[in-house]
Amino acid sequence: MSEPRKLYVRSFGCQMNVYDAQRMTDTLAKEGYVETDTPDDADLVILNTCHIREKAAEKVYSELGRLRKGQEESGRRSMIAVTGCVAQAEGAEIVKRARAVDLVIGPQSYHKLPELIAQAEARGSNRRAGIVETEFPVEDKFDFLPPPTRAAIAKRGPTAFVTVQEGCDKFCTFCVVPYTRGAEVSRPLSKILDEVIRLADGGVREITLIGQNVNAYHGPDATGQPVGLPELVRRIAEVPGIARVRYTTSHPRDMDEELIAAHRDMPALMPYLHLPVQSGSNRILAAMNRKHDRELFFEIVAKVRAARPDIAFSSDFIVGFPGETDEDFADTMDLVEKVGFASAFSFKYSSRPGTPAAGLGEQVPEDVKSQRIYALQALLDRQKAAFDAACRGRRFDILLEKVGRFPGQLIGRSPYLQSVVVEAPAEAIGTLASVIVRDVSTKSLSGEILGGEFFATEAGMETRIRGQSEKVEA
Ligand code: 5AD
Ligand code: SF4
Repeated sequence: MSEPRKLYVRSFGCQMNVYDAQRMTDTLAKEGYVETDTPDDADLVILNTCHIREKAAEKVYSELGRLRKGQEESGRRSMIAVTGCVAQAEGAEIVKRARAVDLVIGPQSYHKLPELIAQAEARGSNRRAGIVETEFPVEDKFDFLPPPTRAAIAKRGPTAFVTVQEGCDKFCTFCVVPYTRGAEVSRPLSKILDEVIRLADGGVREITLIGQNVNAYHGPDATGQPVGLPELVRRIAEVPGIARVRYTTSHPRDMDEELIAAHRDMPALMPYLHLPVQSGSNRILAAMNRKHDRELFFEIVAKVRAARPDIAFSSDFIVGFPGETDEDFADTMDLVEKVGFASAFSFKYSSRPGTPAAGLGEQVPEDVKSQRIYALQALLDRQKAAFDAACRGRRFDILLEKVGRFPGQLIGRSPYLQSVVVEAPAEAIGTLASVIVRDVSTKSLSGEILGGEFFATEAGMETRIRGQSEKVEA
């Protein structure tokens, strides 16, 4: 038998890219490709790129430069494909700028990978001419992307992403997504459920529903009627084996009453909500075309907290949007103080070609952006540290995901996505453990198991976890 061909995939940017990379890997597994963790021995290298900020987009070119140098040194020539949002946005420009690239494939065409690779191969030594595929085809790529095998699912562990919605119709003035990922499209309910059933069968316990604007989900059910996110979450939580559901990322405008009620009524829906707000200034929110003001954001936070008192929030922020004054920025700091976040991402505004904000005057100087992001991140870091510290002594379920750094240790995730280190045998991976948090450090928490699916309950718990014979005290 001939040697299997080797595939190296590197993903940049968001969780959607992580998911897409897995689907591309699954597609190519059927064609006989096996994954390798270095580009050096790969027959095919895929760079799955992100276009959201300039820095992210530039990474692809430095990575391509490194790849070319590596190939020149080793004399080994692998095929190189650029996928993701830079592929969509820059298309043929990439081939012009980086001659080593054989294929440029936009996110809606991943199902065509095998066919496009065959075309590139057929070009033989001439193949550096580069094939560019960035159409939005009429067919649904998900109908053609093969699902992962059971072995592939098991290898990826007990948590999985599932794309339920792609694209965005919100047109925030700073954002490239409506252009790179196109209009908002929701996948049909039955197809998502089929995928979740398959994942659960492979041992997955936690599903994160992903999309650029996932709380606007409105996929059709079997009768063609649109179904919203609350119903989708409910149906997924019913799948045997699934213990936890999350969704990301959301827009405040789509946090409707029914979704807020779902946070109250569905225990499987984790009490952790990523809700980007971007700015605390009404003037800037309007200029960003966010379609809501700070008051609406406060109102939503209050309602969600009333529905689910143990909920924690995370968010995205942009500093230095064109025209942002010291006062506008003070409003952002004030919003953060008032809400209190368990975690957050914050970015300096990056002007993106083709977006409405790129054409605005009054771009904020780089040093002002730097000062603001420094102050904002310091505040957010303090809030995160305070949230983590308040977890000491709390007891919650941890989904045990993988082995830890030291023998006998496992790492799991809290409802708030914190990493939690516990002592437990590897056979407990994939189970929920009830853990009391004993210690908190900047990167992770550590705790002690008091019971759970793999372990006996507290009352009669033999401490096989710790190899002792006395009972554990809570
Ligand atoms: N500049 C800086 N940050 C941006 N984001 C999106 N576009 C830009 C931009 N042009 C941030 C937003 C969004 C997150 C995914 O990336 O905060 O929520
Ligand atoms: Fe971009 Fe705004 Fe859509 Fe989010 S909601 S993807 S920031 S346009």
